[in-house]
Order: sequence, then structure tokens, then C-alpha cells
Amino acid sequence: MNILVTGGAGFIGSNFVHYVYGQRPDWNITVIDALTYDNNKKNLDGLDKVEFIEGNICDEKLVDKLVQKNDIVVHFAAESHNDNSLSNPRPFLDTNIVGTYTILETVRKHNKRLHHISTDEVYGDLDLDDPKKFTPETPYNPSSPYSSTKAGSDLLVRAWVRSFGVKATISNCSNNYGPYQHVEKFIPRQITEILEGRKPKLYGTGEQVRDWIHAEDHSSGVLAILENGLVGETYLIGADGEKNNKEVVELILKNMGKDQNDYEHVNDRPGHDMRYAIDASKLMNELGWKPKYTNFEEGLKQTIEWYTNNETWWKPQKAETEAKYKKANQ
Ligand code: NAD
Ligand code: TYD
Repeated sequence: MNILVTGGAGFIGSNFVHYVYGQRPDWNITVIDALTYDNNKKNLDGLDKVEFIEGNICDEKLVDKLVQKNDIVVHFAAESHNDNSLSNPRPFLDTNIVGTYTILETVRKHNKRLHHISTDEVYGDLDLDDPKKFTPETPYNPSSPYSSTKAGSDLLVRAWVRSFGVKATISNCSNNYGPYQHVEKFIPRQITEILEGRKPKLYGTGEQVRDWIHAEDHSSGVLAILENGLVGETYLIGADGEKNNKEVVELILKNMGKDQNDYEHVNDRPGHDMRYAIDASKLMNELGWKPKYTNFEEGLKQTIEWYTNNETWWKPQKAETEAKYKKANQ
């Protein structure tokens, strides 16, 4: 099996590449990544048999050449951070919409299988007391430039399946945590703030709920869909990990030996989604998938340990990231 992974040097893409490298040693993996975060190339260190191509998914010629040589494309590449999409939306349109269009036209031309990686944020948000969770039938209702461009990319995939018979599946996953996540994101930001001797920063009241899943469980879900999923179907990936942001900050402080109240409230995010929650029963019942990390605190402890032991990985991103947040009083 020859597999092309777009965005394979990013947080979840690189976790997926590590996972498949270990689980399917006979597969040939090629990664295309624009390295929008300078040090991401290091995320693939030690994976000698992976072919790495630095390039942009909007580059039709390059994408054509790579897609032609592979059997499957797994499409992770995206601009992925809500706060960045609020300060500068344009790259989100280029990569998430035009980039996905470029991938779709190429897999259509060469009749290749595509799996498109998306997010539960396309569904908008739920009320805190809503008994429902997101299902594949939930109507799209995105809130931010990030989630609206991801929703747009999903709709393009659905249209290319229906109009042109492209052999694609889609997965919408909840919030991921684990090693190699950029320090601009919630959990790594708080861990590294504490490691640098500062306090964690909670947006607004911190009552917003996210449904946390370990990146390795996201990877095993994607592999299950690649091997057994039905073309044209959408699968939701989640691990029943609902926690509000305040609880997560308190758990991080506790597990780093600090007072659980030692955090500060900062400016809230405009349009901040209240709650995400995934019903993953289709993936579990139809494809037999199960998450491995069912104890969030255990997964969090391992993640804290990873950031504590890998300061050289995150340090170069940290000052610039905090300078951006400081400007927004966040
Ligand atoms: P990330 O930002 O760490 O990784 C994205 C990667 O894509 C980066 O390595 C970047 O260099 C690359 N990239 C960006 N633009 C590119 C372009 N034009 N051409 C080639 N490469 C480009 O993000 P992530 O958190 O790993 O997210 C990966 C995917 O998973 C995204 O599609 C995201 O929407 C989805 N997702 C993320 C989460 C989450 O919690 N982080 C949850 C559900 C779904
Ligand atoms: P984030 O990791 O940006 O993911 P998403 O926006 O995709 O959910 O943020 C997760 C939650 O944490 C979200 O409700 C915003 C909140 N948050 C903070 O409270 N403080 C922070 O410093 C950051 C980056 C996020």
C-alpha cells in the first residue's frame, strides 16, 4: 500500500504517520507538508522509511505527481487554529478550501481513494445542558473562519463524491491532545506556561466544554476507516472525553504539583463555541473501533511528561506565540 499523507508533519498528521509506521510496517508513506510551523519537520525524526516532500497542497503539479504515485490520500493539511483564523482568515481559505479542491481534482483525475480529515466544529456548538451529541446527521452550523472553511471543505468532498464518483470518506473528530501539539493550543499552552513559571490562561469563565481524545485514538479511528469504511460515508471520532476548560486547567495544575486555583482569567475568544460532544457509535458499531485512552487524566499525565522532557521541541515556538496572545490580552 502506498499512502500519501498531507499535513503529515503537523500535530495529528505526524501522530498518524508514527502510528501507521508502527502498525503497518509494509506500507510506503509519503508526506507532503508546507511546514507552516518551522520546526514541524522534527515531528518525523527517526522514521527513516518515510519520504518527506516540503510543498503546498495548492501546488497542482506537485500534488498531481504525488497522488499519481500513491493508492490512498489521507488529507490532514489545514490551517487549524481558531484564534489565528480570527486575526488572519485568508490562509484558511487558501489551504482549507482551495487546497482541498486541488486534492479532490487530483484524486478524481487519477481515480484514487481519499480520506478527508475534519472536525466536529463544523456542527457549531451545543448548549451545556443539551442531552444531544453531534451525529453524522447533525446540520452544519460553523461559527469561526476556521470551522466554516473546514465545513466548506467537507461539502466539497461530499459534492465530488456525488457528482464525480470520487471514492472518499470523511471523519469529523473532537479536540485532540497528546505529543507534538503546537503551544498555541489550549493544553500545551497551559503546560508550557507552568513550565516557564507563569500561570495558565483561561478564556472567559472557562465553562466551555470540549470532548477530548488522545491523538493516537484519532489515528486508530482513521486507520479503521481507511481499511473498512464505506466510500461516501462520514464517521465521527470521539472518546467520551467531555470536560470544561476550568476542569482541564485544574487537572494540569494538580498533576504538575501546583495549587489548582493558580490560574488567571484572560479575554474571551469572540464567538467562543460553548460545547462540543461526539456520538461515535457509528464508528464503534459498524467498524468495531474502540479508543485506548479512556482515562483522560492518565493521557494528560503522559502529555505533561512529554512536554516536560521535550523542551527543545517547544521552546523555539513559545516566545512568539505568547507575544501574539499578549497583543489580544489573552
Ligand atoms: P496542525 O496545524 O498541527 O497541522 C497541520 C499541518 O498542515 C501542518 O504541519 C502544516 O504545515 C500543514 N499545512 C498547512 N497548510 C498547508 C498547505 N497549504 N500545504 C501543505 N501543508 C500545509 O493541525 P492539527 O491539529 O494536526 O490538524 C490536522 C487536521 O486535523 C486538520 O485538518 C484539522 O482540521 C483536523 N482536526 C484537528 C483537531 C484538533 O483538535 N487539533 C480536531 C479534529 C480535526
Ligand atoms: P483550542 O485548543 O484552541 O481548540 P478549539 O478552539 O479547537 O476548541 O481551545 C480549546 C478550548 O480552550 C477553547 O474553549 C478555548 C480555550 N482556551 C483557553 O481557555 N485558553 C487558552 O489559552 C487557549 C489557547 C484556549
